[in-house]
Amino acid sequence: MDLVHPAVDRYLNELASRDDEAVLLEMEQLAQENRFPIIGRLSGQLLELLARSINANRIFEMGSGYGYSAYWFSRATGPDGEIHLTDTHADNEKKATDFLTRAGLHDPVQFHVQGALEAFDEVEGDFDIVYCDIDKDGYPEAWERARSRVRVGGMFICDNMLWFGRVTGDPAAPEDSRSGWTEAIMATTQAIIGDPSYRSIIVPLRDGVIVALRVA
Ligand SMILES: C[S@@+](CC[C@H](N)C(=O)[O-])C[C@H]1O[C@@H](n2cnc3c(N)ncnc32)[C@H](O)[C@@H]1O
Repeated sequence: MDLVHPAVDRYLNELASRDDEAVLLEMEQLAQENRFPIIGRLSGQLLELLARSINANRIFEMGSGYGYSAYWFSRATGPDGEIHLTDTHADNEKKATDFLTRAGLHDPVQFHVQGALEAFDEVEGDFDIVYCDIDKDGYPEAWERARSRVRVGGMFICDNMLWFGRVTGDPAAPEDSRSGWTEAIMATTQAIIGDPSYRSIIVPLRDGVIVALRVA
């Protein structure tokens, strides 16, 4: 199920192609080769834009893979930011360190090879942005823990909120082989949009990114 019409998607990606830095292209090539689910070019640009728009400095990523989403956040914070990356696979830390160092974007990064929620509990304080991209059955708990630790004026951002159309219940959407993931995403969406402390919307880029701004 195409969430964005292929011609529109092509058009948007052509417009986004001005970012042609070698390491970025390498990261995207690796995702394509390994079918690794990076957030992608358009949503990556959105992350940078959102982070810049609120002068984000302190960011916590839940589920960082090999640093593609962090690439965009680091461009926004600059070297004096503080960006916590988490992933359970040590190999991803190695790759992220290599990519981000070569791109000149590693200065603000601290990588935790650990479960994202455990690491989140260990790193104290509030954040300008908490970004969530872990296994989807972890989304409800991720939101529950993060919602009070995003500063007022900060954002909770979470990928895959349309789950390739599965959340719509439309028969054209692919089946979900992972039990409970669609329901977990839908429950998280309801919790976020029902939270009076946040104003939120799902931006239907790639697989849907929810942007929730803390207003109270
Ligand atoms: C969708 S990928 C992340 C992509 C990355 N945010 C990007 O845009 O390039 C999800 C990653 O989260 C990791 N992961 C999944 N569940 C996790 C958890 N509970 N704690 C830490 N890492 C997790 C996986 O190992 C995987 O590398």
